Amino acid sequence: MMANLNVKRQVNVNNNDEFLKDILTGFSERQKRLPCKYFYDERGSHLFDEICKTEEYYHTRTELKILDDALPTIAGMIGPNADILEFGSGAGIKIRKLIDALETPRSYCPIDISEEILLHSSRKLKKHYPELLIHPIVADYLSPIDLHDTFATESEHRKLVFFPGSTISNFDLPEAIHFLKHIRSLLTAGDVLLIGVDLLKPEPILLAAYNDRTGVTAAFNRNILDRIAATYQTNLEPGLFCHRAIYNAEKHRIEMHLVSTCEQTVEVEGESFHFRKLESIHTENSYKFSLEGFRMMGMNAGFDQTAVFTDEESLFSVHYLTAH
Ligand code: AVJ
Repeated sequence: MMANLNVKRQVNVNNNDEFLKDILTGFSERQKRLPCKYFYDERGSHLFDEICKTEEYYHTRTELKILDDALPTIAGMIGPNADILEFGSGAGIKIRKLIDALETPRSYCPIDISEEILLHSSRKLKKHYPELLIHPIVADYLSPIDLHDTFATESEHRKLVFFPGSTISNFDLPEAIHFLKHIRSLLTAGDVLLIGVDLLKPEPILLAAYNDRTGVTAAFNRNILDRIAATYQTNLEPGLFCHRAIYNAEKHRIEMHLVSTCEQTVEVEGESFHFRKLESIHTENSYKFSLEGFRMMGMNAGFDQTAVFTDEESLFSVHYLTAH
């Protein structure tokens, strides 16, 4: 029944101790930090979906609107029988829009670190599109992947990498370029990267988007502490930290922090970490780009900007980049 759902495991992912290692290293640095990938356990992923529905968080609905308007054009540019590769496999709304718009896409290969999420979304998609070949791969975004049996060898199958949601915003700039180069290495000249990118805009709009009135973003941020408290031997009290999102204008990024409301010592698996009152844990960066800035970054990684689509208010953008 699931003949086409062979999940490939690329590397040793789901290493349980990696989270602990990252906590202990992150808490030992002068500016304490935690990698934002740990936001996304089951509750965190749910909270993220809730963020996307808030009035202030313009990203998701704007990107969907851009895709609705541009997909007929994009589909015409891509042509028939494409092999699609997607990094991350979220709620599946955007990929369905893409599949529906394209002319007889040949295959779909979602890459995700979570096997559970990957299988769940792949099964649902397979039911919906029985003709589509589906090749899920469990892998880290940045690890080398073997696409040998995923992509067709015939040149009439254009490869299309789909990376919506401005997830690229979470990478520091060198990492972002490295990631784009990694994508480029999977492609041949003429293949396409379709990528969602959040744009620079007046600070109040940005601050509101990361400080929503209903407090979902605060809960999302603090969930990383809930997760530590639930997973490890610790006296950590998430209630003693509060959410803060600021705009770092010099670096063109929103920064999320968790601020200690008092002086305290947090113990995790026998190691102690001192927090001054108001000392923060830096949990996320979300970079904002100009259209031109992102075009240059793509160029740097081996892509030409063939087209770029944006909304009326220039809040968000979808770049159609061609490998050269
Ligand atoms: C999924 C990385 C695009 O940076 O806006 C949302 C994550 N963090 N609210 C973003 C996020 C806080 C989001 N990205």
